[in-house]
Amino acid sequence: MTIEEAIRHRHSVRKYLDKPIPEDVQRILMKAIEDAVAESGLDIHLVIDEPEAFDCRLAHYGRFSGVKNYISLSFGKGMDEMAGYYGERLVLLAETLGLSTCWVALTYRKASVKKTRGKDRGIVISIGYGAERGSAHRSKSFDSVAKANCPIPLWFRNGVEAALLAPTAINQQRFLFTLVDEHAVKAEARPGFWSKVDLGIVKLHFEIGAGKENFAWK
Ligand SMILES: Cc1cc2nc3c(=O)[nH]c(=O)nc-3n(C[C@H](O)[C@H](O)[C@H](O)COP(=O)(O)O)c2cc1C
Repeated sequence: MTIEEAIRHRHSVRKYLDKPIPEDVQRILMKAIEDAVAESGLDIHLVIDEPEAFDCRLAHYGRFSGVKNYISLSFGKGMDEMAGYYGERLVLLAETLGLSTCWVALTYRKASVKKTRGKDRGIVISIGYGAERGSAHRSKSFDSVAKANCPIPLWFRNGVEAALLAPTAINQQRFLFTLVDEHAVKAEARPGFWSKVDLGIVKLHFEIGAGKENFAWK
């Protein structure tokens, strides 16, 4: 599966099979995490076979079951966008490896995630073999998340479409892409719950959909 296919194939999955992630697949994820840590300075860990964080009322209320593994991301103030960008890179890699994921900011037991202690902010991504496929989310229209100061090229449309397929907190899609000129794009988060993390996520999707060679961020 290519990364573009992963964008179309991915849905949040909250129910997992009791099937371990093989060691060779874990190694691929660990290497990608090492690269992300080196590039971003975020604190990222793959936590394997530790079900406690999802064995609580909040997680059951959020309809999670069988979660034994997760990726934890810990970061300081002002690093939300970076967390979204690098976390989503791991989400899409996981999808290409046949794994399913779900970003989780709220419905887990934070006290059980040892690695996030001592940092201002923490978020996790559940990961494993899905007991379900998930389903397509309801989506805003192109016009409500994009505007343009010049005629719209195909690459911009493709970028916004890829962003609209991205996970966002409570599916809020509180972002705006502006085509500033023929080759420059501005991306902004509108106020919302974890919307700066969402911004990093949707910017990665936009880059993949549009092709990085076609534009620069403003
Ligand atoms: C930053 C962020 C935080 C999220 N937090 C939670 C959460 O606490 N509990 C949960 O069940 N889903 C959570 N989600 C998953 C969203 O609900 C999901 O991405 C959205 O409904 C869109 O669905 P999709 O991912 O299947 O496309 C979160 C997603 C993001 C991006």
